[in-house]
Amino acid sequence: MALTLRPTVAEIRLSAVRGNLQKLAKTAAPARLLFVVKANAYGHGAAELARLAEAEGLAWGFGVSCVEEGLALRAAGIKSPVLVLGSLYPFESFVEAINADLIVTIASLDAARQVREAAGRLGKQAVCHIKLETGMGRIGARKPSVLKIYDELALSPGVKVGGLYTHLSSADSDPDYTGAQLAIFNETAAELELRGARGLLLHAANSAATMNCPVSRLDMVRCGIAAYGQADGFEPAMTLKTRIVFIKNVREGACISYNRSFRADRAMKIATLPAGYGDGYVRRLSNRAEVLIGGRRCRVLGNVTMDMTMVDVTGVKEAAVGAEAVLLGRQGAESVTARELADIAGTINYEIVTLVTPRVPRIYTQ
Ligand SMILES: Cc1ncc(COP(=O)(O)O)c(C=O)c1O
Repeated sequence: MALTLRPTVAEIRLSAVRGNLQKLAKTAAPARLLFVVKANAYGHGAAELARLAEAEGLAWGFGVSCVEEGLALRAAGIKSPVLVLGSLYPFESFVEAINADLIVTIASLDAARQVREAAGRLGKQAVCHIKLETGMGRIGARKPSVLKIYDELALSPGVKVGGLYTHLSSADSDPDYTGAQLAIFNETAAELELRGARGLLLHAANSAATMNCPVSRLDMVRCGIAAYGQADGFEPAMTLKTRIVFIKNVREGACISYNRSFRADRAMKIATLPAGYGDGYVRRLSNRAEVLIGGRRCRVLGNVTMDMTMVDVTGVKEAAVGAEAVLLGRQGAESVTARELADIAGTINYEIVTLVTPRVPRIYTQ
């Protein structure tokens, strides 16, 4: 294990992830649950959380963004199904994916021919899910192409079409659009059945759809954000915390941080924290976000720097070198949510947790 001396850490509560996955699985049942662990499990640590989910039977399988992420799960000992949600390019990636028993996404006729060719060359069956474009506008083949892809692959003994899926763009905001996407999906699935497709795993729902749109659950749901507790009714798993490394008392007029973006309007007590945008605490939080020290909210003063951030601890008697500071998460009765930081930074809670950088050790607690 790497040496951890700097007190800036992301604590990941396994009990929260477990509880969130159980809630999603119960809500989705009888549909299966695919636990989306791409981008290092949205910053929470893919290998550790996949091991937990596999050991405790909390998910049918895992969703990753690319072959490298799938291979990392296999290297971590994960045996469950792993679906690569992205389009594969270069096409040589199919060889790596098939060798590691990753389920690949096929979103074009070109990719369908390439996966067939790779499976033939390896003499090993490839399993794929076809991705249908229904309105996300990212990757996916439209209905006529999906039918062609299916016809092409159905005749190939080296390739098993295991599923059909789509991605909902607005399940958290637009039920009508979601309904329209699902209508295209169901129509396409019905046509594939007419062409002889049997037993395809049909899936469309992300976390928001799983919770808000029962008809979207189909045979499987693919959940990420709610599993990490970043959705209403779920328990946040990540706490980003550090300890005060320096304290000073300043006079009125003192300037704080780069470009003097904060100037004290009175005598103040200021703490320096060893965390900054190099840890994923983004610079947009400068002068606006609050951190928790002694169970109280303390405002960030001046620009967040790469490795350090200053906060106002005037009147906070617990504020001393070594005292805990929570940048994201709960301390006592107070909490700073990823949504709160996202609103300040002009982004979404997904990005706040995913941006916690690799130099921040992840500490797993029960
Ligand atoms: C294809 C796909 N499915 C499922 C998910 C999971 O979405 P969420 O984190 O909103 O549950 C994602 C994440 O963006 C995705 O790209």
